[in-house]
Amino acid sequence: MSEEIKSLLETQGQTHVLKFWDDLSAPDQNSLVEQVKAIDFQQLNQLVSGDDHVTDWGALAEKAELPPAISAQDLKTGADFEAADSVGRAALSNGEVAMVLVAGGQGSRLGFDHPKGMFPIGPISDRTLYQVIIEHLMARAQQFNTVIPLYIMTSPPTHDESQSFLEKHNFFGMDRENVRLFCQGVMPAVDDDGKLMLSSKSSLFVSPDGHGGTLAALSKSGILDDMQKRGIKHVFYGQIDNPLIQVCDPALLGYHISRKSEMTSQVVRKNEPLQKVGNVVSVDGVVQIIEYSDLPEENARQTNADGSLKLWAGSIAVHVFDVDFLVASNATADSLPFHRARKKVPFVDGDGNKVDPEAPNATKFEKFIFDLLPKAKNAIVCEVDPAEGFCAVKNAPPAPSETPDHVKAAISDLHTAWLKAAGVEVAAGVKVEINPMFAVDAAVTKSKADNIDPITKDTYLV
Ligand code: UTP
Repeated sequence: MSEEIKSLLETQGQTHVLKFWDDLSAPDQNSLVEQVKAIDFQQLNQLVSGDDHVTDWGALAEKAELPPAISAQDLKTGADFEAADSVGRAALSNGEVAMVLVAGGQGSRLGFDHPKGMFPIGPISDRTLYQVIIEHLMARAQQFNTVIPLYIMTSPPTHDESQSFLEKHNFFGMDRENVRLFCQGVMPAVDDDGKLMLSSKSSLFVSPDGHGGTLAALSKSGILDDMQKRGIKHVFYGQIDNPLIQVCDPALLGYHISRKSEMTSQVVRKNEPLQKVGNVVSVDGVVQIIEYSDLPEENARQTNADGSLKLWAGSIAVHVFDVDFLVASNATADSLPFHRARKKVPFVDGDGNKVDPEAPNATKFEKFIFDLLPKAKNAIVCEVDPAEGFCAVKNAPPAPSETPDHVKAAISDLHTAWLKAAGVEVAAGVKVEINPMFAVDAAVTKSKADNIDPITKDTYLV
């Protein structure tokens, strides 16, 4: 082993990772050395010691106000709607919009043995999350006779399988020139003594660096340059686990552009003060998110004079970014801080035994994309009715919410509502699913209503 690595690990108090060195093959030894070299120890030590920064959430919460917000009603019918909608439509038609889809998470709560994008979610079709979202994007591009490039973020644990799955399915018909996968970075986890952990005798335990890793990964992969070359000005950002996502919604894009916002977040009206979503707030004019776990209960329960909830904007992790803003943010090294999370991390102990802990035993470090909000000029939030735009697959049954069955029912309910609003009869209790290539939203459904027979049994409209 090189003296350089040995002395590095000695200085860092991390020589235990070499415990099994003599048992390893030469390639495994090389791989371990490469993993050690990839660690930024200065950064890690700062995170472990907690010297980076401490936020006084209580003090921030005291000053928190609702950020500049467009309600769901205004978004559809407000005085500015027509203008915003046509601005969004023009940006799409002019090829100024791309989508970034983040799919690097490990989906541990769902307990599915593959990348979450491969999970079948179509209530009748069994289409996977990847297919549902990609087809929605293609339908949107077709609607405006335009190209909307798609950039899918994977991570080392989800990359290879996602790539082969998407290739096997020919990217569900997307033109290969307009879709790219890019892989996010990883961070090591540490135990309660700040020590690196081994996932095998020759590997450090690392995990994806959070959805905030998107920014660095977009830059490193050359995608920010690609976007600029293509004349992309705005990025629609969404997560793989929300099949209800209103992909590149023209009005959302239009409000973002006409309000000269550098970052716009789509939010839902919280259904109760303590709902477990990030709270989008404004503090001294700076828009930011206070996680539900950081917002003191008395602040969460504050009401307006009419009794309505004051801080009602809950984040659903759908954002629109200006490309120039992403480029400028990426140039600032400290643009996104790391957050700590206590997690159960299986590891190899000093005797070489695999240990599967029953309680959290380690700290993971992740960046969150929404930490870009405070840096954005003119940030706004736009409300969406969750029935129309948000239902995420997070949990395995029998969890009380966000299970595959809940999400399938939400898709069927939404498509049933589109049909009923278009005057199509739908018998009670039947499941309905509409492929976006058939109708991308309620308005298109309405325009096709004359050709749709009354629905009397489970039906998939393609
Ligand atoms: P979640 O934090 O809900 O994580 O990610 P998850 O991986 O889906 O599930 P759990 O927490 O392990 O059960 C929200 C979104 O952010 C993406 C996920 O793929 C999902 O779309 N994400 C998360 C990344 O792309 N990278 C990450 O490092 C973390």
